[in-house]
Amino acid sequence: MMWGPLGLLLVSALFTARRAATERCPRICLCDNVKYHVACLKKNLTEVPTTIPQITQKLDLRGNNIKVIPGGAFLPIPYLTHLNLQKCNVESIEEGAFRGLGRLVYLNLASNNIAFIYQESLDGLSSLQQLILEKNRLEEIKPGAFSQLGFLNFLNLGENFLVFLPDMIFQGLQLIKWLRLSHNALHVIATEAFAGLPTLRRLSLDHNELQSLPTEALSRLSGTTQLDLGHNPITYIGEEAIEMASLKQLFLDNMALQDVSYKAFVKSPLLHTVDLHNNQLQVLQPLMEAAHLKNINMTGNPVVCTCYMRPFKEWIEKARVRVDALCAGPGALRGEQLESLRSIDMKCGGHVPAEEWLPSPPTPPREPAKDAKKRCPDGCACSPDFQHSNCENRGLQKIPKGFPGNTQLLDLRRNEFHSIPKGSFPGLKKLISLHLQNCKITELQPRAFQGLKKLVYLYLSNNNISVIDAAVFEGASQLSYLYLDHNGFTRMPREAFSFLPNLFSLHLQYNSISQLSDNDLSGAGQLRWVYLTGNRITRVFPRALSSAKMLEKLHLDENFLQEVPTGSLRGLPVLSELKLSKNPIKYIGDAAFLPVARSLQHLYLDNMGLEQISSRAFAGLGPRMKNLYLEHNKMYNMPDLRSFTGLEVINLRDIPFHCDCQLLPLRRWIDRLNLRVGATCGSPAEVRGQKVKLSAVFKSCPGWGMEKASRAHPDEVKAKTQGERRPSKKKKAGKAQARGTRKSQV
Ligand SMILES: *[C@@H]1O[C@H](CO)[C@@H](O)[C@H](O)[C@H]1NC(C)=O
Ligand SMILES: *[C@@H]1O[C@H](CO)[C@@H](O)[C@H](O)[C@H]1NC(C)=O
Ligand SMILES: *[C@@H]1O[C@H](CO)[C@@H](O)[C@H](O)[C@H]1NC(C)=O
Repeated sequence: MMWGPLGLLLVSALFTARRAATERCPRICLCDNVKYHVACLKKNLTEVPTTIPQITQKLDLRGNNIKVIPGGAFLPIPYLTHLNLQKCNVESIEEGAFRGLGRLVYLNLASNNIAFIYQESLDGLSSLQQLILEKNRLEEIKPGAFSQLGFLNFLNLGENFLVFLPDMIFQGLQLIKWLRLSHNALHVIATEAFAGLPTLRRLSLDHNELQSLPTEALSRLSGTTQLDLGHNPITYIGEEAIEMASLKQLFLDNMALQDVSYKAFVKSPLLHTVDLHNNQLQVLQPLMEAAHLKNINMTGNPVVCTCYMRPFKEWIEKARVRVDALCAGPGALRGEQLESLRSIDMKCGGHVPAEEWLPSPPTPPREPAKDAKKRCPDGCACSPDFQHSNCENRGLQKIPKGFPGNTQLLDLRRNEFHSIPKGSFPGLKKLISLHLQNCKITELQPRAFQGLKKLVYLYLSNNNISVIDAAVFEGASQLSYLYLDHNGFTRMPREAFSFLPNLFSLHLQYNSISQLSDNDLSGAGQLRWVYLTGNRITRVFPRALSSAKMLEKLHLDENFLQEVPTGSLRGLPVLSELKLSKNPIKYIGDAAFLPVARSLQHLYLDNMGLEQISSRAFAGLGPRMKNLYLEHNKMYNMPDLRSFTGLEVINLRDIPFHCDCQLLPLRRWIDRLNLRVGATCGSPAEVRGQKVKLSAVFKSCPGWGMEKASRAHPDEVKAKTQGERRPSKKKKAGKAQARGTRKSQV
């Protein structure tokens, strides 16, 4: 019969595969040939190893250095069900990268540098259930990118830089249960962004920049039971603001709410719990017609328990709603639980009438009906349903005309335009994103982008632009993200900013800018992120940045600065991230970061050839600091870091610490820190390579015993300025102990 030989064939195929498994394990990986797991963790791999056993089911490649995942990278291992590529410096996923992985159910791409997801990037993942893309650099997702993922039930896009969700962006996710968009910068959500997601149970939109509720977009989510909207700057929840047929739990905590309409939830009949904690609510009206409502959390609101709050109080008693709220006033009731009061004790007398401070409801803008005509320039592909037109790499020399009027995304990459004439994009009033990378552009003519009233993203990377006329951006005043990296600028294109009042993010990496002059950013009052990595900057003038009062992120790494530009940091009250890596800064003096000490959280000082840091270099910095990168430098010691109590990441690798008693304060600090630090001794020779944290060299230091006795360290020696004394080769302190531990550490 048929089965006999076929079965035999299968068995022998499996047998061969199993044998192959034991034979083909890549040298640097660990292969479990029983469970078919392969792990190649932190091996600095630059590509997926080619000799992974074919029958492998789980592959763990965390912590490698795979910048590009090429098409077909996993074709030799088609049985994979789980693939982990976290922290691999992935920047790009080429078309068909995961082709052949029809059994994959779990794909983790978190903590990489992925900026784009194209539809073809995720081709072939027809069984995928969980896709983790958090902590990447996604600013934009093309509609249709997820359209092949019909079995996905969890999509995590948290901690990216998404600003806008276009219509139909999640189309095709027919079984999705939880969509996580937390910690992005979302401020616009198109009305059909959540269309076609009937199975979605939970939507997380917390920690974004929404200023009003996307009521209409949310109303498409008929099956969603939990909605997380906390930490958005919304001040008011209006009538019928939440229209979600199945919603049970609603999180509106930590916003800026001053008022919630008594009819806010009337269109969400199943609502059970509303979390309003940490807002600015003083009074609520009875929330009529919310028959299922059982819990309201109002802790952290300045609730005034006067007669104005009495109707609410009477309502919660009658409707048996649990309310967690403390009275902030009037004086006699301050600190009382609202629930424990009697409503007759809630009196008015001389208190400001409620109406005076209730804001009037803003009216949400409504989108006019679409007028998409079915047209498209020759040779291009237009998808009016996705509002997406594409003429990438068509050998074009002129910008085509005649795109559908509803186009939101226009992709013109890899053509040869050389120059962009005035008014090149007529009729594209709805365009949000324009791609002109790699188009050999040398010239942008005045008013080139005129009429693009909604343009938010403009990509001009990898061209040969060196100057920008003031009027180039006239008529594109919504432009927020401007990509001019990899061009020919030798100075800041300062003229450009006068027509860009909403500029938010400016990319000028890898140009040839040699200095930042005074007023170089004038006009860019809304600018938050400036990227100047890889230029030739030798000097930043004191008033170069001062117009950009909102600046949060400044990347000046890979330049030629010889000192920290302390003076130029004045007047930047919200700067939280400063990158100075790979500048030839040998010395950091006193109070180098003091002007931004109240806001700075992330500081990159790695790979600079730093020889000395003054003991007061970090003056003013303290608990707010989250990340400090100092790896790969040449100093021997470190200033006192005890005030850095909020650190999440600190990197002290590849610093030749001189491990003698002068370093004891650092050692003690590391001992108490619950983080990996990576500090190793560079000298004296006997202890070279030992971890500072484990080195026995400190046990003979005066005061070592105190460490164990007390946690307060009243006697702690002040950190020494390193370089005060260069380490002497002859020092033998703790040599014996050091020898003792060296073996066990290797
Ligand atoms: C990792 O590989 C890169 C390039 O292949 C190399 O420059 C770097 O030194 C390697 N790092 C380590 C820790 O091996
Ligand atoms: C209300 O929220 C606060 C803050 O998160 C929390 O501590 C408290 O337990 C919550 N109350 C209830 C009843 O859930
Ligand atoms: C870029 O433009 C400069 C003049 O601005 C020109 O000298 C150079 O050849 C151009 N480079 C390329 C690759 O086109």
